Amino acid sequence: MALLEVKGIAKSFDGAEIIRATSFAVEPGDIVAFTSPSGSGKSTLLSMAGLLLTPDSGQILVDGGVDALSLDDKALSRLRQRLFGFVFQSTQLVGSLRAIENVTAPAGFAGKLDFDPVERAKELLVQFGLEERLYHYPAQLSVGQKRRVAVARALLLNPQIVIADEPTNDLDEESANTVADALFAYAAQGHALLYATHDAALAARAKTLMVMKDKAFVSAS
Ligand SMILES: Nc1ncnc2c1ncn2[C@@H]1O[C@H](COP(=O)(O)OP(=O)(O)OP(=O)(O)O)[C@@H](O)[C@H]1O
Ligand SMILES: [Mg+2]
Repeated sequence: MALLEVKGIAKSFDGAEIIRATSFAVEPGDIVAFTSPSGSGKSTLLSMAGLLLTPDSGQILVDGGVDALSLDDKALSRLRQRLFGFVFQSTQLVGSLRAIENVTAPAGFAGKLDFDPVERAKELLVQFGLEERLYHYPAQLSVGQKRRVAVARALLLNPQIVIADEPTNDLDEESANTVADALFAYAAQGHALLYATHDAALAARAKTLMVMKDKAFVSAS
């Protein structure tokens, strides 16, 4: 059963068409990469797929057929929380929170959990080589370290779908591999991964590669 079914979503900004009707479905274990030139619409597409940005037209179905775009704000934010973990292109860490507090922050909105978010956050940060940086603030971290914190935050609540917008951008090869391997390993556990990248080698690791053609993303295979 599809975790997510994107059907003909489109978006314009200020009268300019950015994304023409794009469709794809995501099942557990799927790994889908999106590549296109800078400024052509990857982040826009991922924001719509993750229900952070409303398409102008088209449908997004979740849970085997629920029309996500017809939900009210409260139901939508609950759904978003349960379904998605986001790694934003600009990381969007909270400057006043330490690394580990940034990672545990989503737990504050999540209701009762069956695990200790602080322990899980520590595990993830250690896995990403940040054991010496748990209590640093974002301003005290390198760009690559911040990105690893952002990936840990996205995985904290064990989302069904991770959406990662250029997750290895600004990372050296070793850190990029650490982050990419963690995301792929997470998807292999029966979750799904959608990511945008300009890195050909990283794009080649996806099971499905979506490329832009006439403003729509289509499967390259
Ligand atoms: N909120 C907005 N208002 C107006 N225009 C926007 C908005 N968000 C994005 N755009 C425009 O939509 C286009 C696609 O932007 P987007 O960020 O999706 O591209 P991208 O493929 O992710 O680029 P990059 O590879 O550089 O990250 C750009 O021309 C951008 O200026
Ligand atoms: Mg982008």
